[in-house]
Amino acid sequence: MVHTTQCCILMGCLCLFYPWSQVCEWREPEELAALLDLELRENGEPQHQLLQRIRDVAKYSVKTNHPRFFNQLFAGVDYHALTGRFLTEALNTSQYTYEVAPVFVLMEDEVLSKLRSLVGWAEGDGIFCPGGTMSNMYAMNVARYRAFPEVKLKGMWSLPRLAVFTSQQSHYSVMKAAAFQGIGTENVFKVKVDDRGCMIPEDLGETIELAKSQGAVPFFVHATSGTTVQGAFDPLEPIADICDRQGLWMHVDAAWGGSVLFSKEHKHLMRGVERADSVTWNPHKMMLTGLQCSAILLKDTTHLLKHCHSADAKYLFQQDKFYDTSLDTGDKSIQCGRKVDCLKLWLMWKAVGSKGLEERVDRAFTHTRYLVEEMKRREGFELIGKVAPVIKERMMKQGTMMLGYQPQGGRVNFFRMIVISPQLSHQDMTFCLNEIERLGNDL
Ligand SMILES: Cc1ncc(COP(=O)(O)O)c(C=O)c1O
Repeated sequence: MVHTTQCCILMGCLCLFYPWSQVCEWREPEELAALLDLELRENGEPQHQLLQRIRDVAKYSVKTNHPRFFNQLFAGVDYHALTGRFLTEALNTSQYTYEVAPVFVLMEDEVLSKLRSLVGWAEGDGIFCPGGTMSNMYAMNVARYRAFPEVKLKGMWSLPRLAVFTSQQSHYSVMKAAAFQGIGTENVFKVKVDDRGCMIPEDLGETIELAKSQGAVPFFVHATSGTTVQGAFDPLEPIADICDRQGLWMHVDAAWGGSVLFSKEHKHLMRGVERADSVTWNPHKMMLTGLQCSAILLKDTTHLLKHCHSADAKYLFQQDKFYDTSLDTGDKSIQCGRKVDCLKLWLMWKAVGSKGLEERVDRAFTHTRYLVEEMKRREGFELIGKVAPVIKERMMKQGTMMLGYQPQGGRVNFFRMIVISPQLSHQDMTFCLNEIERLGNDL
């Protein structure tokens, strides 16, 4: 048993430290399934065979920590955070009561409070969620509960038609949340954006009036700090003015962009965020904690989160416990068991300090500027939009790098380059541009 565990840890480390030349070893699905021999059988296998299986898993998985993995809004690896991830798995506890997770209950509280202070709130509430989609769902649910507390007992029967507002370029989790919570995707009103992809506040005002004229009751505005494709930051001050005037819950989805709050140079992008009611922030994106690490932060100090979600399970949250039961924070969650997501962030933050995190954010912005300048210098880069799917196929099959593409609005396919990993250098970006030229040379 110990032997297998040690091997697994060793292999896990090897996956990360081995100087992989390729980002991925592409195989067609049938070939890969056969190679991996996935079938589960009656009898167990010997150690040497398990080791080979672990090697194969690592070999054919995508190396998201490779400096040339630009495909997703997460990338790279922070070894302190990784140590936190190993320890979390090894300790295997659930983040719901002080009795079963004493260290992590206190730690989560500290980390959330620190994140809130960067937002500009001296107090408030929050919880780590399994991803930004879930954090956004929490925000919508708590906002609805504040506006219509009876929803918890009586459900949607007791409510009028509700309306949600978000920009045309917000993340699709807004639609999922509206569907999941019985609000309905048709009741998500999309607000126009400008050329940079930022919500146009005047259009928000007009869209709210439009929804009202249709008999809907507005309750929730979902702004974005760092949109998924263009990285746009919605203008939070004028959006907050509208929310104040209309008495609406203002949520800021800063899953991607929240980390700019570490940077003295770039935090102006989120000016006004302290006026929001809630903020989603995914440290697993720009801060490199590793998946998953997402916080929903609330300005509320009236325990809305708990009132909205609690079910008072008597076997878990007994009120006559021998310690302060306010430390049993699990009933704020919509889950029962909840993974520990604070340790990796806490350990990394301890290791590099807020200063180190600020440097990472600034570095990512420097890389972006470099890339833009380089592209402007090169002739022929407008061709990329027309040929992106072919170039993508070639780069995957050769395993040299991974870069996502998509169309947007009236624009044809273009590459979305994510440059957050601290392992990145200008050389990697030059490589990326050269590689696009090489792979698309004959197109
Ligand atoms: C702006 C924004 N919000 C929310 C999400 C969803 O986050 P998650 O993938 O952690 O569910 C994303 C994901 O890319 C995002 O870009």
